[in-house]
Amino acid sequence: MIKGRLRVPGDKSISHRAVMFGSIAKGTTYIKGFLTGADCISTVLIFKKMGIDIELNDTSVKVYGNGLYGLKKPKEILDCGNSGTTTRLVSGILSAQEFTSVLTGDNSIQKRPMSRIITPLSMMGANITSNNGFAPLTITGSKLHGIEYKSPVASAQVKSAILLAGLYAQSPTTVTEPAKSRDHTELMLKKFGASLTSSKNSVTVNPCNELFASDIAVPSDISSAAFFMAAAILVPGSELVLENVGINPTRDGIIRILKKMGANIEIINHTDAFEPVADISVSYSKLHSTTVEGDIIPTLIDELPILAAIACLADGTTVIKDAGELKVKESNRIHVMCNELSKLGVDVVETEDGMEITGTNKLCGNVAIATHDDHRIAMTFAVLNLVSDGEIRLDNKNCVEISYPEFFNDLNKVNV
Ligand code: S3P
Repeated sequence: MIKGRLRVPGDKSISHRAVMFGSIAKGTTYIKGFLTGADCISTVLIFKKMGIDIELNDTSVKVYGNGLYGLKKPKEILDCGNSGTTTRLVSGILSAQEFTSVLTGDNSIQKRPMSRIITPLSMMGANITSNNGFAPLTITGSKLHGIEYKSPVASAQVKSAILLAGLYAQSPTTVTEPAKSRDHTELMLKKFGASLTSSKNSVTVNPCNELFASDIAVPSDISSAAFFMAAAILVPGSELVLENVGINPTRDGIIRILKKMGANIEIINHTDAFEPVADISVSYSKLHSTTVEGDIIPTLIDELPILAAIACLADGTTVIKDAGELKVKESNRIHVMCNELSKLGVDVVETEDGMEITGTNKLCGNVAIATHDDHRIAMTFAVLNLVSDGEIRLDNKNCVEISYPEFFNDLNKVNV
């Protein structure tokens, strides 16, 4: 049974942004609840290589910002590791610096599409060369001008890269998305003093003279909490409270969909800080299938692997569509989930932009799962291991380091 209370680590998206914006702000930014996962450490190391003094003390971080033009030319290549957020957001900042720098990352990063940021940043005047649209990226800072950009994808990484470049541009910059993606950049930039206006799926940023340091309390990551929501829902007799979880409406699609499927989930102690936060109470539930499509997709994009896993034990066929973006995450998450779920005997059909999963009441175990070194695939199958007939073995457990280094310890703690 999954029992008790748990505070999962800090939000990955918000932790990255706190270090990035703190580095280009004037003054000292104090971050509490920082995620010490490998992705956010990549961001810290990159800004250190550009001369920013950053003190890490467990989950408390001090960033001694040097202002919008205070970054120094790095002596080495900037290594983003596995982190798409680092690669794309930092590219937006580097596009306006007075030096040339090179950004790259691991094998997965070098396969993830970068044209989606190269195109709009180049329209703003940036000078970026790449390996045919893939990292390594060589970025030579330029004078930028504002653009009105209609993004073909709903992606907060693309939107944020453009908005960050827009801070340095000579005229306002507007990004319009096909559906609204997470708005952490907008909320945090405002807290640092930038001028932004949003309406529906568009955001405009005005040129900025200076950002000012701010204190950031990072809520727990709803994307990490989702694995424990799933565990509590799937294991009979479970009752769990997840504390202090970020429930920004651009991120809470997983809660809305689980409720629609019949899950016992309650939001308690809701507070509205600069990011909305609440405790989430969740217990064992019998679920029915649903269709997940359209504008809700960006609000639960990282939770689709665990949602697909939950759907394996729901009554009926769950359909996930409009989720083509899953193919360009840390792994091709549509293909990987379909392949690996079918090893458990699940009836799953891979489609062009999603998958169809028919629920069962028996998951075979005694299988080896290929995680493709993707942290969210590893955590998804670790949760299914709680309810499968035999052991589900992972070819790489360590990849959880990317977003949740203590994942297996925490799972042991609440699995009583
Ligand atoms: C993120 C945005 C999302 C998400 C990723 C983090 C961010 O990616 O999948 O884990 O911090 O902006 P896309 O913007 O590519 O959809």
